[in-house]
Amino acid sequence: MDDLSPRPGDLEPIETASVDELRTLQTERLHWTVRHAYDNVPHYRAAFDAVGVHPDDVKELADLAKLPFTAKADLRDNYPFGMFAVPREQVVRVHASSGTTGKPTVVGYTRDDIETWSTVMARSIRAAGGRAGHILHNAYGYGLFTGGLGAHYGAEKLGCTVVPVSGGMTERQVHLIQDFRPDLIMVTPSYMLSIIDEMERQGIDPRSTSLKVGIFGAEPWTNDMRREMEQRLDMHAVDIYGLSEVMGPGVANECVETKDGLHVWEDHFYPEIIDPVTGEVLPDGEVGELVFTSLTKQAMPVIRYRTRDVTRLLPGTARTMRRVEKITGRTDDMIILRGVNLFPTQIEELILSTPELSPHFQCVLGRTGNLDNLTVRVERRETAPFEGAQESGVLLQRLIKNSIGVTVAVEVVEPAGVERSVGKMRRIVDQRPAR
Ligand code: DLL
Repeated sequence: MDDLSPRPGDLEPIETASVDELRTLQTERLHWTVRHAYDNVPHYRAAFDAVGVHPDDVKELADLAKLPFTAKADLRDNYPFGMFAVPREQVVRVHASSGTTGKPTVVGYTRDDIETWSTVMARSIRAAGGRAGHILHNAYGYGLFTGGLGAHYGAEKLGCTVVPVSGGMTERQVHLIQDFRPDLIMVTPSYMLSIIDEMERQGIDPRSTSLKVGIFGAEPWTNDMRREMEQRLDMHAVDIYGLSEVMGPGVANECVETKDGLHVWEDHFYPEIIDPVTGEVLPDGEVGELVFTSLTKQAMPVIRYRTRDVTRLLPGTARTMRRVEKITGRTDDMIILRGVNLFPTQIEELILSTPELSPHFQCVLGRTGNLDNLTVRVERRETAPFEGAQESGVLLQRLIKNSIGVTVAVEVVEPAGVERSVGKMRRIVDQRPAR
């Protein structure tokens, strides 16, 4: 794999500024954001007033803890444009996330917001090893989802040649990779696996392609999955994180030279970790729910937005900004089985340590009597014999029992037996009857 570490002069000054400089900038920007939200969004004014806090009470970053949280429900209640802090005419773009239930949540951007987003996305692609002049195959979906257009604008800003493929038509994805010889690919990790399978089906060795870096995000994936991808593709696999409500992709990104968690672009997005039950702020290093306050957004500032994503904050390494550890999952995707909490990513790790099993899997929840049960449905690898794969299924069941402490059923199915997605993979299939 190529050495793609940044060269002197590649980075923006703030990426290597002192922590003091960064905190000073954040404090100034926080004052502006809190005032802007209070003055222009009725929801924030009412929420602040209800707890008796005024923007003037927020003097330092620690004062953020005095402010109320914002949740997805607040965005839904103000559907479609009620959270905007500028006249609608100044909003040049909207995106929306479908969610699983009810109304979508709508987000908006001014021209300056699009510029900020492009800047943090360009920074993210560069952190991943991308450079001006690279060809970037963008297989994130274009449309209301922020993935496609977010990556697109950032890649253009960095000076890449963008191939705006979007998701789907897997056979064509492979042809385009062969013909255009891209350096970079941006796609969800689960869809990357389908593209690899398609390459193999067409008789192409995935290690032989022109790709140098894959920038994978929009869903949780593990370090074991990174090893699998890097081995199968002979390229760097780097993590990108973001969410529509805060901006879109490019809120945090891993650096290719360290691959040790995602640096949060803290000059624009201020992170906190809270206890999801009590709401109390936890010190850096402790695991909890990630919360963001935007620091520069004009059209739709967010104050203490609860992401539901579980992780912890770690000190900066390759950059001044703090890192978040690879996201384990969302609090809403946590399965509670007979009192044991588990995330699909824990299952992914164990599957990938079992050679005969492929990384295509789903967690199917069912119920017998009053008791919930979990079946891990996983495909055998194309190269594994049927019998061997069945034995691996038994082994996986034992591994899950020993390391997570819960008994599950394992169903090993044939290759292509697990549903595929061209975007975010549905890891949990809930077949429990309504009570
Ligand atoms: O998924 C934005 C995005 C697009 C990020 C492309 C990265 C690449 P939403 O559709 O609003 O936005 O979903 C946001 O996806 O709260 C996480 O639960 C999950 N997620 C996003 N990136 C990661 C990641 C986009 N790298 C939600 N690891 C977030 C784990 C991720 N989960």
